[in-house]
Amino acid sequence: MSTHYREVDLVIRGAKVVSPDQIIEASVAIAGEHIVAVGHDDTMPPARQEMRADGLYLLPGAIDSHVHFRDPGYPNKETWRTGSAAAACGGVTTVFEMPNTNPPTGTIEALNLKLKAAESSYCDFGIHGLLGDDTIDHLEDLLEAGVTSFKAFVGNTFGNLPSPTDGALLEGFEKLAPLGIRTVVHAENSSIMARRQKRLVEAGRMDVHAHLAARPSVCEIEAIGRVLTLAEWAGARVHIAHHSAADSLFVIRAAKLRGVDVTVETCPQYMLLSTDDFTRFGGIMRVNPPIREKRHNQPLWDALMDGTIDMIATDHAPHTDEEQTRADIFKCDCGFPGVETQMPLMLTEVNRGRASLMDYVKWSSVAPAKAWGIYGTKGVIAPGAHADIAIVDLNRSGVLSQGKLQSISKLNPWNGRAVQGYPLHTLLRGRFVMRDGKLVTDAVGWGKSVKGIQKMPTPQPRNTHLYSSAILETPAGTAPHALPAGYPLPAVETEAAS
Ligand code: DOR
Ligand code: ZN
Repeated sequence: MSTHYREVDLVIRGAKVVSPDQIIEASVAIAGEHIVAVGHDDTMPPARQEMRADGLYLLPGAIDSHVHFRDPGYPNKETWRTGSAAAACGGVTTVFEMPNTNPPTGTIEALNLKLKAAESSYCDFGIHGLLGDDTIDHLEDLLEAGVTSFKAFVGNTFGNLPSPTDGALLEGFEKLAPLGIRTVVHAENSSIMARRQKRLVEAGRMDVHAHLAARPSVCEIEAIGRVLTLAEWAGARVHIAHHSAADSLFVIRAAKLRGVDVTVETCPQYMLLSTDDFTRFGGIMRVNPPIREKRHNQPLWDALMDGTIDMIATDHAPHTDEEQTRADIFKCDCGFPGVETQMPLMLTEVNRGRASLMDYVKWSSVAPAKAWGIYGTKGVIAPGAHADIAIVDLNRSGVLSQGKLQSISKLNPWNGRAVQGYPLHTLLRGRFVMRDGKLVTDAVGWGKSVKGIQKMPTPQPRNTHLYSSAILETPAGTAPHALPAGYPLPAVETEAAS
């Protein structure tokens, strides 16, 4: 008896398929944009195209929760075309892009400009809208118009968007909690940092260490604590961006134990770099939050291993060479490109035995897919899912070179670093966007928004009867406030002490 299959577009044979639970030897069949079969080689349907991938690993494409593609506003630093090309060449199939563009993504007009720019994307994307004092009245409109999630710049950074007041942040959480939408928070205390930076500048400090001195870990501890307090009370989902300090992990651990729906990312720079690298790279290493002392590196790994930190993101933050290399550290723009180098950097650590490939897939793809409500369609290699696949050679070694980056922005502290483990090919919804290490330029514009597939779990709002929206009506039967009749009350006669 023979089984009749319709012909599929592509069968990848002989690879190992990675999920957080297991690595299996299997072939994968792809029809159109979807995976249609994962299984024994003999069970694969006939295909128009066959690809052998012996010795290679198939990973669900990485999902980077934190990139800055700068368009609209700063196309000299990056564009959607170049930023997404970097993603594709880094094994990243979906990105979530940040709102500190110009104009910031806090109005429908600004969002539409961004969606237009994103039409040239090589990768799928979500858009974090801006949560600030000026935007909380139209969060629903922004969601309707295409944002997938929000970002609150509680700590100041590039773009100098004002931090939301605590009042606005809580009200924003009250609006988003009933919708189940997650808000990314840049959690550093702006007031402490501004004051310290002013002191440092007045004292004439402009060396590379001054940036860290302006933003000690207490800024992160305090801000995470405050944000989680507000989010927990409102029952809102939050996501801590670029967790940088060992010292603030205890706040996350306690909140997770209480059941707060908080997801947390860290970035390769916080696990693999430290103040020891400052002299070598100078202003290029200025990033918010700052890269810290070496003692922070291992606890962040441990936190990923034990689930306190959920995922790896990059905070891909492109700037021009000139902006990154000014003599005064406080005049250098913060951040550097990272979306293209994350996978080789992390695979190198896998090769060193610091984590398994299954761990890596959990951090790079599964956890972000779950956090943003796209798991099942993305984040997994299984029938029915999008064929978003990074085909990886764990043995290939090389040296990261800034000259080879797709990004407009080149300078970064990974330049010259030896790595082992590269994505060779990247498939996005069934189509190669990188093949044999090269960008498939025809695939420009193949990327699209994940808005259509996003489905957040059931919302879990709390204290709704105390939300700002619930306290504005005078309760029935309550008279407007008036002084009691006969006020002031007559003094009570007391007996004179004898
Ligand atoms: O260093 C940073 N640069 N940190 C951020 O949070 C933002 C980013 C940027 O937009 O340049
Ligand atoms: Zn950022």
